[in-house]
Amino acid sequence: MRIAKELVSKFKTLFGAAPRLFRAPGRVNLIGEHTDYNDGFVMPAAIDLSTIAAIAPRGDRKLRVHSMAFEQTIEFDLDDPSPSPRGDWSDYVRGVALSIESAGLRLGGADLMVHGDLPMGSGLSASAALEVAAGLALCRVSDVTIDLTDLALYCQRAENEFVGMRCGVMDQFISCRAVAGCALLLDCRSLEARRLRIDPRARLVICNTMVHHELASSAYNERREACERAVALLSGPLDGARALRDVTQDQLKHFAALLPDPILRRARHIVSENARVLQAATALAAGDLAEFGWLMNESHRSLRDDYQVSCPELDLMVELARGAPGVYGARMTGGGFGGCTVNLVEANRVESFKEIVGEAYKDATKLTPRIFVCAPGAGVGELEF
Ligand code: GLA
Repeated sequence: MRIAKELVSKFKTLFGAAPRLFRAPGRVNLIGEHTDYNDGFVMPAAIDLSTIAAIAPRGDRKLRVHSMAFEQTIEFDLDDPSPSPRGDWSDYVRGVALSIESAGLRLGGADLMVHGDLPMGSGLSASAALEVAAGLALCRVSDVTIDLTDLALYCQRAENEFVGMRCGVMDQFISCRAVAGCALLLDCRSLEARRLRIDPRARLVICNTMVHHELASSAYNERREACERAVALLSGPLDGARALRDVTQDQLKHFAALLPDPILRRARHIVSENARVLQAATALAAGDLAEFGWLMNESHRSLRDDYQVSCPELDLMVELARGAPGVYGARMTGGGFGGCTVNLVEANRVESFKEIVGEAYKDATKLTPRIFVCAPGAGVGELEF
């Protein structure tokens, strides 16, 4: 693998040691968007783009971290009494180290170098992959045994508390626990995951709009607040509702008058999306690709109109996909405001899909989209080379 070779050779030059390598994948989410931080259901799969962390232990408590993409080395001390975020890529690595240590595990210092082929800001979870690869690498060279679900939770906490992005657990969980050939139906409350085989008659095709709108992270935190507000307003009449996960579509209709706009729309997306994920899991298990595709389309509509996290480029990409032959369904994937769409396409129509959608998107936007088939891969692990 080219990236692994490059990393090893650069690592030796910069740090003068032979590293171990740990690889963590990015993800695509088939359905279940913004439901994870509402204790709900999601259906992600790992993709074959990833981040690799090369690492060698040091004798002290320093972390020296180099990013090949940013050509930058940052150094910090694990014993720094008041660590503060720098507002750059290194926060993900430092945040994870701090989060692991605050769980009572003790890490040793290390030299780390990170690189990957996940495009940043494209909604394929490059940041979660960085956290997970660095987290497992740090644990392994420190002889710390870690359960991969715990690692996912520590990585999420790093992002919530150190980076300041109040994300749910989906991205970190799938990067840790993905199973090759499968998507996972994940219950974000219990963290129970069920494997769902991807039907061999279809392919998951990812289309990158090549745009990323800046408001993504502030709008994300705002959406999360709106959900919390909805729960607060509903928890009186719906005794025991701790999260929107606990509210049914009928209950929401019944108590709609309690929720001002746009809180009602936000809640309507979450409550209906949770129901769609469960229906989609049933459809996939039964081989009903038409139903699965219809649910993907409905999910996009709800994200666009009720949750309002889509953008013109995502809507265009979805419209173009739906016009191409052999498409069961198309929707935005990830947080939104740019990034990628996910499409369920008949296996023998993938080439024409790429051509038709690629050309039409380019004509309309002057941007060349990246369109590729996703082969669901495994979660984080050490790379033997
Ligand atoms: C981002 C977050 C996830 C999830 C998605 C939306 O990727 O990191 O936790 O909320 O957005 O589904």
